[in-house]
Amino acid sequence: MKKTVAVSLLGTQLDFVGKRGNRWARWRPNVSLCSQEDLQINELYLLHDERHSRLANQITEDIYSVSPDTKVILETTHFIDPWDFGEVYAKLFDWCKEQSFDPEQQDLLFHITTGTHVVQICSYLLTESRHFPGRLIQSSPDRDAASPSVGQVQIIDLDLSKYDQLANRFDIEHQEGSAFLKGGINTQNAAFNRLISEIEKVAIRSCEPILLTGATGAGKSQLASRIFQLKKRRAMVKGEFVAVNCATLRGENAMAALFGHTKGAFTGALKARDGFLLTAHHGVLFLDEVGELGLEEQAMLLHAIENKQFYPVGSDKALCSDFQLIAGTNRDLKQMVAQGQFREDLLARINLWHYQLPALRDRREDIPANVEFELTRFMEKNNHRVQFNKEAKTAFLRFAQSPEALWLGNFRDLGAAITRLCTLADQSRIALDDVHAEIERLKASWTAPRESSLVLADHLADPSQLDNFDQQQLNYVLSVCQSANTLASAGRELFNVSRLSKSSSNDSSRLQKYLAKFGLAWKDIKRQ
Ligand SMILES: Nc1ncnc2c1ncn2[C@@H]1O[C@H](COP(=O)(O)OP(=O)(O)O)[C@@H](O)[C@H]1O
Ligand SMILES: [Mg+2]
Repeated sequence: MKKTVAVSLLGTQLDFVGKRGNRWARWRPNVSLCSQEDLQINELYLLHDERHSRLANQITEDIYSVSPDTKVILETTHFIDPWDFGEVYAKLFDWCKEQSFDPEQQDLLFHITTGTHVVQICSYLLTESRHFPGRLIQSSPDRDAASPSVGQVQIIDLDLSKYDQLANRFDIEHQEGSAFLKGGINTQNAAFNRLISEIEKVAIRSCEPILLTGATGAGKSQLASRIFQLKKRRAMVKGEFVAVNCATLRGENAMAALFGHTKGAFTGALKARDGFLLTAHHGVLFLDEVGELGLEEQAMLLHAIENKQFYPVGSDKALCSDFQLIAGTNRDLKQMVAQGQFREDLLARINLWHYQLPALRDRREDIPANVEFELTRFMEKNNHRVQFNKEAKTAFLRFAQSPEALWLGNFRDLGAAITRLCTLADQSRIALDDVHAEIERLKASWTAPRESSLVLADHLADPSQLDNFDQQQLNYVLSVCQSANTLASAGRELFNVSRLSKSSSNDSSRLQKYLAKFGLAWKDIKRQ
């Protein structure tokens, strides 16, 4: 059985009720703590100022008389100013450090009823941070009881999730946060809902980088901005949301745009300028299409995340910026690392929290809710409400949820379809004919990638067995091969960027390996 060990301060007011016999009729916190029927205190560390040692001795005696098995250990502490937070915390901290408390063998309780409120706050902080490896206990008089002096005690568990009332409250808060991240759309897809539920927790508990991946239009940018807004609502960020599309940061300007520059740092730098990193101080920096960043910028970025410091172009004075990074990409960063296009250390740093947003075609059950959402969005933007006729809606949803609908641009395609339908609808009603016309438009917009299968068909038995993604890529590779004279020149064109950063660039063998994955060889292609 564990020993119950309590730590308490002598209550110079509450414990002090005089010496006469009638003191037993009065409630005294430390005596009460040791008088409980269902709580046996084996050891009580009673902290007191030397000036109050008489009172301490008397309380000790009285405790022995009600609880002979309690060993009272008198400890002197001296607070020069018991209302000075710094002093009280430091002294209690040092005192806890000196004790060899052993939570395996001891059930440790910090009694918080006595002492100044500064002492009470400090004991809470020490317990919460586990510098005091126990729990808090409070005692109070029990006015209805037959012997009021015994009072009652209550252990305060700092694991708040154990309180039903609070757990419910937290649950509601969590659901509200998730609903906010989903933009109020009541999504049904279980995998997506799980993903959002976890992102909600991470958003409000962590400032570590988050990586959002997924196809274009899957909602990465929107989610990043909502994560920021959620943090802002919970007062977790003071700064701004700074969104940067890395694809627009090319060449020499990239460094200056991100990290800022001094006046005269380069030709054309007429004025000093803050970079995006500085603007995002105490806020969130969203680097969309992070895979497009150059290797040098990647190295600087990693340094800036790890040290919260960076150097503007042309300056040898480091600037500080403390921001949360959210990175977005639709590229496979692992593969880019393998190809030497993305720094492995940066990937390791940014993918602590990695979320892959599903494509719309993998969330077909969510399409009806999203159609409603888009209709409302159209109305809010245009101040004009448009609705589907019943059969028109059924036809549209049937198509939208069928495997025929590829939704290659995900929400962008869905948003565009609803915008077109609403704009073209007569009398604010979308009719069946409108829907048929829109279905044709959507199909046509998705056939461009399918045309590639026509070229592929020259080389492959059944191109439809390939993912759309591979069809596109392979088609491009084949068209380069067809117009190139040699394997090496095709390789140079295809790997034009990554070949520069590789120590030994063997474009020919990279191309051969790629083709081999599809059972193709250079000579076969040239023979066609
Ligand atoms: N969960 C969602 N539900 C409905 N519409 C969305 C959702 N996420 C994004 N959108 C809309 O889809 C479009 C593309 O979203 P965006 O976040 O820019 O995608 P990404 O950054 O992944 O390319 C935007 O118009 C956005 O408002
Ligand atoms: Mg985006």
